[in-house]
Amino acid sequence: MKIAVVGGGPGGLYFALLTKKAKPNWQIEVHEQNRADDTFGFGVVFSDETLEEFLSRDPQSYARISEAFAYWDDIIVRYKGREMRCAGNGFAGCSRLALLQILHRRCEDVGVKVHFEAPVSELSRFADCDVIVGADGINSRIREAYAAHFKPSLELKTNKYAWLGSTRPLDGFTFFFKQTEHGLICAHTYQYEPGRSTWVMEMSPQAWVGLGFDGLDEDASARRLEKIFAAELDGHNLITNRSLWRNFPRVFCENWWHKNIVLLGDAKATAHFSIGSGTKLAMECAIALSDALVEHGERSVEAAFRAYDEARRTEVQVTQHNADVSLAWFEHMERSNDMKPMQFAMVVMSRAKSITWDNLILRDEGFVKAFEDEWYQTYFDESGFDCRKTRPTPMFTPFKLRGMTFANRVVVSPMDQYSAVDGVPNDWHFVHYTTRAMGGAGLVYVEMTCPSADARISLGCTGLWNDAQEVEFKRIVDFVHANSDAKMCMQLGHAGRKGSTQLLWEEADHPLPEESANWPLTSASPIPYYQGISQVPAELDAGGMARIKADFVQAARRADRAGFDMLELHCAHGYLFASFLSPLTNSRKDKYGGSVENRVRYPLEVFRAMRDAWPSLKPMSIRISASDWAAGGISEDAVVAITEAFGQAGCDLVSTSSGQTVPEQQPVYGRMYQVPFAEAIRNVTGMKTMAVGAITEPGQINTIIACRRADLVALARPHLIDPYFTRRAAAWYGVATQATPPQYRSGMAQALREAGRTREKQVELQRKAKPRHRK
Ligand SMILES: Cc1cc2nc3c(=O)[nH]c(=O)nc-3n(C[C@H](O)[C@H](O)[C@H](O)COP(=O)(O)OP(=O)(O)OC[C@H]3O[C@@H](n4cnc5c(N)ncnc54)[C@H](O)[C@@H]3O)c2cc1C
Ligand SMILES: Cc1cc2nc3c(=O)[nH]c(=O)nc-3n(C[C@H](O)[C@H](O)[C@H](O)COP(=O)(O)O)c2cc1C
Repeated sequence: MKIAVVGGGPGGLYFALLTKKAKPNWQIEVHEQNRADDTFGFGVVFSDETLEEFLSRDPQSYARISEAFAYWDDIIVRYKGREMRCAGNGFAGCSRLALLQILHRRCEDVGVKVHFEAPVSELSRFADCDVIVGADGINSRIREAYAAHFKPSLELKTNKYAWLGSTRPLDGFTFFFKQTEHGLICAHTYQYEPGRSTWVMEMSPQAWVGLGFDGLDEDASARRLEKIFAAELDGHNLITNRSLWRNFPRVFCENWWHKNIVLLGDAKATAHFSIGSGTKLAMECAIALSDALVEHGERSVEAAFRAYDEARRTEVQVTQHNADVSLAWFEHMERSNDMKPMQFAMVVMSRAKSITWDNLILRDEGFVKAFEDEWYQTYFDESGFDCRKTRPTPMFTPFKLRGMTFANRVVVSPMDQYSAVDGVPNDWHFVHYTTRAMGGAGLVYVEMTCPSADARISLGCTGLWNDAQEVEFKRIVDFVHANSDAKMCMQLGHAGRKGSTQLLWEEADHPLPEESANWPLTSASPIPYYQGISQVPAELDAGGMARIKADFVQAARRADRAGFDMLELHCAHGYLFASFLSPLTNSRKDKYGGSVENRVRYPLEVFRAMRDAWPSLKPMSIRISASDWAAGGISEDAVVAITEAFGQAGCDLVSTSSGQTVPEQQPVYGRMYQVPFAEAIRNVTGMKTMAVGAITEPGQINTIIACRRADLVALARPHLIDPYFTRRAAAWYGVATQATPPQYRSGMAQALREAGRTREKQVELQRKAKPRHRK
């Protein structure tokens, strides 16, 4: 086999080295445009885990790498004059040049020919090669030349950054947050060899322009940064090396190979530098590509590329997604700027989702304790609830809205059971809701319930337009109040254009099969959900608006009489009120369409009328879709304007969901994937929020509350299979204060004992499983 590698960065070199080691007879040559001692940038970092992988693949380069690396354990956040350290992070850094030179030497040892000062402008010269590896970095010419096949997407992110160096010694990965008159700047810094550290400066475009960097050359920028960071640099200078201001390009290629050309490293996908994973990704992909070619290459290059793709695609996407979340946090770092130092540090530590409360306890209990010292005091000052001694973890702290206090922050999210007959809840609903309340959640939502028969999604939806329905709901609420601490929230909604459809487990969102059984639909505009399949709804007129508003008001009164503690207006998921809010489903020309002020008008009218009918001591919330996950959909600015308008109308909480507006949506799912929406609303508007969506662990809930990403956390599917989620979490953290009915107390006591033991064992195992420190 003959292989040409274009690009002698960490990805290309490591691939060449590993492949040649495994297949000494193959002819492998690397073509690098730069000189051997010529490199941009300063240091690179690797986590303990990555170093373990390198150790197992090439002990010789590992040995040289570990000699050249500076090792540290702490991540340090410097903010508002405080230094906050979190230990247990295990990172190693070295200069990029040192890493490349180690790889050059290893390539030479095993017989890989590396051509320096050998720029490749077209690939025809490699016509005799079986494989061409495009490892030519972030601006890959190969990717662009074959863009039609690789299908890259490239997005330039908004923040400005420049990669500089310094002689300032550092003993941990340090984030310096510097307040300036034009906004925050973050310096991402770490030492990579004695007397040398990397300083990546990042700020918003507004701060960058305001501070006058626009138009300054490399040297003048460095001098200005030195002035701003004079205290942090502690007398040291900044060093430049092609330290130009850039916007981070987020690259992802849909296809990773074409004929005999395959992409590797940054050429194929980039990960924002704030999670320090670019070089790791490139080298791990190099391992996978090498393995795949060694195994399949002689038989079928295509089979090898397929195996490479299969082995790496998910991992690359997960890392890239984590990097995107981290990047997004830095784009909005100002939004956390009113926080106290420890909370800010907690946010910085857990910004990329993989580090949670439980995980931080493992890394550094002292850090979590310092956070708790500050957090419980602030919480006491702001709420009057004193948990300074009991410290039940943030998820088990009480929370108050108007006259109602929730025992904890866990919520059973509304879930349509599609099991009512004529809108009347039955035994199924009684068992379902009361069991979940007994499970310990602070708040239990009932499913979207409709104020009239024609407002229903399906024939199985619950309703609240007659006495029989009110009586059955009252039976449920009375039982919950008599036997648990849980509060009950009624969610009222109107299906709009998504009405008259089949049950969830039939063909959801599709009309009833028997044509005559369908009822007429209304929506903001006459746009069907599925073109050609769904009914075309009538545009809601003034008479219809008045009738529906009156329906909601009577249902609100019934909900109050049934004893519900809280009331929610469902304005999400493409149903009637959501259809007014989203520009994708509202094309009205009257005062209810067009601008966001107009689009929110009707939902707001209904909300206000309900608020007037609902007791002032009982809270009210809305649920919104904070993104339509589709081009032309609702924007963040619109979401802020909408929630603020509801806030002024007496809304106490925004339940932040997303999507289901249009069938062509392209959601990006992942752990806690909707939390950034709740966080944005919480931090920009100051309104209380509830997060929901793929939240499955108590540690995640604690992180969300601790970091003020939301005030309440709702779980839907996890509660379907485990009504006792909250009790188990209480046992896990040893929270004995959780109210338990006397019939169940011996079970709770046992769970507390057992969970305590399991937790100790798990912590010990996880500590043992951590890669050992290199130095
Ligand atoms: C500010 C910043 C900070 C970063 N910090 C870190 C960090 O701390 N840790 C980390 O792991 N990663 C970090 N990275 C990311 C890291 O630099 C890259 O992700 C990593 O180097 C990718 O490796 P690669 O081999 O794919 O590409 P590169 O390292 O970019 O290598 C590509 C090589 O191809 C060569 N080349 C390009 N075109 C041609 C051509 N036509 N002919 C011949 N040769 C060509 C280039 O000269 C280059 O040597 C950072 C990136 C930035 C921008
Ligand atoms: C079976 C089922 C029914 C649902 N019904 C409703 C509903 O009636 N009202 C609502 O606002 N959301 C409804 N949802 C959405 C959930 O409340 C929740 O937002 C979503 O499932 C994401 O949370 P999860 O990842 O914890 O499941 C439903 C979800 C499921 C799984």
